[in-house]
Amino acid sequence: MIDLSTQYLGLQLKSPLVVSASPLSESIQNVRLMEDSGAAAIVLRSLFEEQLNLESYTLDRDLSQGTESFAESLSYLPEFPDYRAGSDAYLDHLMRVKECVAIPIIASINGITPGGWMHFAKEVEAAGADAIELNTYALVTDPLVPSNEVEKHLIELVAHVRSHIKIPLAVKLSPQFTSIPNLAVQLADAGANGLVLFNRFYQPDFDIERLTVLPRLCYSNSSELLLRLHWVAILFHRVRADLAITGGVHTAEDVLKGIMAGAAVTMMTSALHQYGIRHLAAVQADVVRWMKDHEYESTNQMRGALSRSSVPDPTPYERGNYIKTLSSYPLHRAPLHQTHQRK
Ligand SMILES: Cc1cc2nc3c(=O)[nH]c(=O)nc-3n(C[C@H](O)[C@H](O)[C@H](O)COP(=O)(O)O)c2cc1C
Repeated sequence: MIDLSTQYLGLQLKSPLVVSASPLSESIQNVRLMEDSGAAAIVLRSLFEEQLNLESYTLDRDLSQGTESFAESLSYLPEFPDYRAGSDAYLDHLMRVKECVAIPIIASINGITPGGWMHFAKEVEAAGADAIELNTYALVTDPLVPSNEVEKHLIELVAHVRSHIKIPLAVKLSPQFTSIPNLAVQLADAGANGLVLFNRFYQPDFDIERLTVLPRLCYSNSSELLLRLHWVAILFHRVRADLAITGGVHTAEDVLKGIMAGAAVTMMTSALHQYGIRHLAAVQADVVRWMKDHEYESTNQMRGALSRSSVPDPTPYERGNYIKTLSSYPLHRAPLHQTHQRK
């Protein structure tokens, strides 16, 4: 009997297969199907700090008939009703989900500035969330803001949220930091029980005909996993926080690689949007088959086997790998003498 169980954020999970935040978990039917298909935990979609601020702005305005000075900053929020659905709807949904399934449910809040919205973390806890995932997606565009200030701010934010709640806290990070290991250690010291690596960077595209900048969301593929494997493998056993991979987990092989890098759990969104929620069951069956074929008895046995601290030669994780990779490219494969055909 293969033992897939894992510990994540102090929660005992039946496997490393976790559904990451997306609108898929907005439907109770989907949530049930996720559990039936083998999901060990579900992260609900995020409620944004901006949504909570919008609520308190609307309340203030109704109470005092104040000015519209805050309204401009709220125009970022999409108009469709789902993203306007506020904290009450979120808490109601969370409670319904908790009633319907037995697996742990992780609420998600997306916020970057300390403020009144943090009380929502407490409400989420009271509503029965097993943990909170704090998504810290932020983009610094101001040339006057130095990177150490950005990191300090993030660490303070995590400490602040930690002080509001008793349930476990995971922090979903972006990969654009100068020293990820140092930041990871500081976030764990500030109270993060888990680090979720990484947010995808949704890069806008240009429409050169209409001279506009367009938001673009495309699904991931397994090639995006490599960035996550790299950093999880480096952080494994060097930070006092559980590690979760989100981004590019599509197949059983991706899950196995994630565990071997050192992840406690591997999360999926794009794959479930593309192939359906039952894909989880197929992935789990493939993981079990592979483990049997390779005589592994448990995921714990293989966790971190390819981490930086476990492999005999850590150079693939270091600068040496860069030099080696580039210098190993055979020049004869470059099409130097081909004439470029213009269309
Ligand atoms: C349609 C869609 C909606 C998402 N909504 C959220 C969200 O509300 N909160 C969040 O933290 N991540 C959200 N994500 C990001 C996913 O949770 C996940 O981190 C990301 O898609 C990378 O994983 P993947 O490669 O399995 O898709 C969303 C992704 C998609 C595709």
